[in-house]
Amino acid sequence: MDKRTKFSLDENQIPTHWYNIQADLPQPLPPVLHPGTKKPIGPADLAPLFAMELIKQEVSTERWIEIPDEVRDIYRLWRPTNLFRAYRLEKALDTPAKIFYKYEGTSPPGSHKPNTAVAQVYYNKKEGIKRIATETGAGQWGSALAFAGACFGVEIKVYMVAVSYQQKPYRRIMMQTWGAKCVSSPSRDTRTGRDILARDPNCPGSLGMAISEAVEDAATRDDTHYSLGSVLNHVLLHQTVIGLEAKEQMEMAGVYPDIIVGCIGGGSNFAGMFLPFIKDKIDGTKPDLRIINVEPESCPTVTKGLYAYDFGDEAKLTPLIKMYTLGHGFIPPPVHAGGLRYHGMAPIICHLHRLGLVEARAVHQIPTFEAGVQFARAEGIISAPETDHAIRVGIDEALKCKESGESKTILIAHSGHGHVDMAAYDAYFSGKLEDYEYPEAKIKEALADLPKVPA
Ligand SMILES: Cc1ncc(COP(=O)(O)O)c(C=O)c1O
Repeated sequence: MDKRTKFSLDENQIPTHWYNIQADLPQPLPPVLHPGTKKPIGPADLAPLFAMELIKQEVSTERWIEIPDEVRDIYRLWRPTNLFRAYRLEKALDTPAKIFYKYEGTSPPGSHKPNTAVAQVYYNKKEGIKRIATETGAGQWGSALAFAGACFGVEIKVYMVAVSYQQKPYRRIMMQTWGAKCVSSPSRDTRTGRDILARDPNCPGSLGMAISEAVEDAATRDDTHYSLGSVLNHVLLHQTVIGLEAKEQMEMAGVYPDIIVGCIGGGSNFAGMFLPFIKDKIDGTKPDLRIINVEPESCPTVTKGLYAYDFGDEAKLTPLIKMYTLGHGFIPPPVHAGGLRYHGMAPIICHLHRLGLVEARAVHQIPTFEAGVQFARAEGIISAPETDHAIRVGIDEALKCKESGESKTILIAHSGHGHVDMAAYDAYFSGKLEDYEYPEAKIKEALADLPKVPA
């Protein structure tokens, strides 16, 4: 067992290929359906919105997909990211557990999101696209795409969920600094936005609504494509650089995780971490590996949602995806972890959950901030409110080890820093945060509007 605190890889050890779980799934993913015909969609249906290379990756069953040199060259700015052993947190908790975390906060925008943003902008640019529209929750994704746009000289338009636009002005200014245009969603720039504002001028927005706006923007302009920062298979694919590096680093440390925890909004950072490991569970090498997906109690998609076909957005513009869903019309309470406020979830994570290969847990927001503060005081890093969900459950598992005396190895997917989220910490310290109850009635209402799909 290696006693170092930090396990660093060299620039030339950035993975050369992304890992595609679709090659190793025990059962294939359910097809994505056309919202009109309810039949499986083909590449031509997606071509108005996405680069063809990304569409191919979405359905590919090739195990390894080469990372273009141009993308690896930009990854060099911050990759490989460090894996840390959290000795000081272990001591503070007085636990026999060994806690590791892989920190994605050193990227220029401060999270895991540029791992896919850079790849997506690269493929679009290569296919002649000049402008990309997207949505963002907390602003992490928007700022990552803005950064990637600046890397390749592609114009970026971001629809930012209104509640986060108000809570997090600095992310908007970051986007502006990288040359992107960011508006509050629902906005007056699209028909969808104008319709929503006519019904509710004070609408706090949701990721589902912002997606509708960005999709409408892209679908109505020839020079523009759409980009999604989570959920889709190709996004999870690009994020596997996290897990591939972590696997090597855990090997350097001389350990293999018993438990991997991460937060899930659409599922991309955590899947990026655990997919290269879950391969070992599927092939029977590591049958006891536990993978815990953590979500907010106020938006409990996997723990309390239905596994059904649903739209990815509020205005029903996207194809139908089989996933756990709270209903495309569900507007989650305004918790500070804006990136976890989504009604659906990555089909790959949902499928693995159905197959019994991963678990899910929901937590309230106040205990996540408690965990984030404890982590900051022990390890120094101030984490994004989203990441605090992963840290909460990582600490809970370490405390269980304290009770049982077991020395388990826990690996936390640390998705980003919280430097632009200090208003949320301020609200926590001044006792202004609320723990929202499970919004049962609102979810029931939203689920009543699921599309009807023949069995
Ligand atoms: C720091 C951070 N972590 C996690 C998430 C959740 O997204 P995903 O589940 O796709 O990783 C977000 C989304 O904005 C984020 O900003």
